[in-house]
Amino acid sequence: MSVTFTFYLFTFHFHPFISLARELAPGHVLIFMGNVFGKLFTVTTWGESHGGGVGVVVDGCPPGLPITAEEIQVELDRRRPGQSRIVTQRKETDVVTLLSGVHQGRTTGTPISMMAPNVDQRPEAYDEMRTRFRPSHADYTYQMKYGLRDPSGGGRSSARETIGRVAAGAIARKILSLAGEVTIAGFVTQIHDIEMPERPGVPLREEIDANPVRCPDPVTAKRMEELILEVRKAGDSVGGVIECRVAGLPVGLGAPVFDRLEADLAKAMLSLPATKGFEVGSGFAGTRLKGSEHNDPFEIRDGAIRTASNHAGGVLGGISSGEELRFRTAFKPTATILQTQRTVTEAGEETELRGKGRHDPCVLPRAVPIVEAMTALVLLDHWMRHQAHCRTFDFSGIPA
Ligand SMILES: Cc1cc2nc3c(=O)[nH]c(=O)nc-3n(C[C@H](O)[C@H](O)[C@H](O)COP(=O)(O)O)c2cc1C
Repeated sequence: MSVTFTFYLFTFHFHPFISLARELAPGHVLIFMGNVFGKLFTVTTWGESHGGGVGVVVDGCPPGLPITAEEIQVELDRRRPGQSRIVTQRKETDVVTLLSGVHQGRTTGTPISMMAPNVDQRPEAYDEMRTRFRPSHADYTYQMKYGLRDPSGGGRSSARETIGRVAAGAIARKILSLAGEVTIAGFVTQIHDIEMPERPGVPLREEIDANPVRCPDPVTAKRMEELILEVRKAGDSVGGVIECRVAGLPVGLGAPVFDRLEADLAKAMLSLPATKGFEVGSGFAGTRLKGSEHNDPFEIRDGAIRTASNHAGGVLGGISSGEELRFRTAFKPTATILQTQRTVTEAGEETELRGKGRHDPCVLPRAVPIVEAMTALVLLDHWMRHQAHCRTFDFSGIPA
């Protein structure tokens, strides 16, 4: 059987073709170029760091959801640059405009398009990087893959792309909170070698946002903040770990084999720029326990089947167990540092490069809302898939 490969390069202008593409005759294999995420609740992001703006098209959102641009803005404000002394000082307000899919404050069930313009662009800050590859950034691989690149601000590799994800995540989050009182909390647990003490439960948004680091332990947060300021002064950068906990999930989200819930969460997290690791539940530390220590015994609690411990992190067999979902994502130290480093030019000559411009000395404080947004997107998509697959028909009254 011959298979036709149909390539679709999605940009904002081509978006109306998404529904057309979905209805192509069987035998066509659609190859998306990595800009679309999700199966039923789909998100297509577009835009570059120094272009006209960045945005997103959300398709598959149920109709009738009450949503306003202000609600979406709350999440974007947590991601935006310039919000404190420990993040990049680029002056972007990231004000979102809702272009379609919402009428009189309710979603219409049609594609929702949102955008935020790029206002504070300084392409001259990237002059030196035009022909020299920034160590540990995407310049070299983009150049080799595409044969050309937009050097200003890193183009599509810039974290500005994640504005679209956060805007879409705000909608997903609202649906989840209405559907099942799902609470999603991302928070910084480690910066460089400073770690917060372990604590149970899902931290409140107020505790997380009480300091610029977004670590809910105030004493540890202060130490982390001081370290980031010190590192910034030295023209250097640091990385760390963001943990995400989710309460209120039903049993049954996720599917066996390729679409395991933790596999899709891992893909979502590792699709974020600067990520280097993912672990769920006990993670790598669990390898130091024996089965007798690691197993989570089942018990009846308040009339429901629960587990006494939660080394699994809320997933069993790739399917949510109803226990708190817990996972962690590792972020590397920011690549662009204001120190001289060895590199090569596009022409293949060894040279040096000193980073310029406004950069995050540590990406984690701004990555927290992005982690939460990607979590909401994965969970909502799986919730919709679970409903469609297991809840659309009821054969229970039909004798076998
Ligand atoms: C919230 C956030 C902010 C970021 N800010 C910067 C920055 O200011 N400078 C920089 O070089 N990289 C920054 N990055 C990381 C780069 O986008 C990323 O390192 C680059 O695209 C290369 O991809 P890789 O690190 O995943 O290999 C940021 C990442 C995130 C999530």
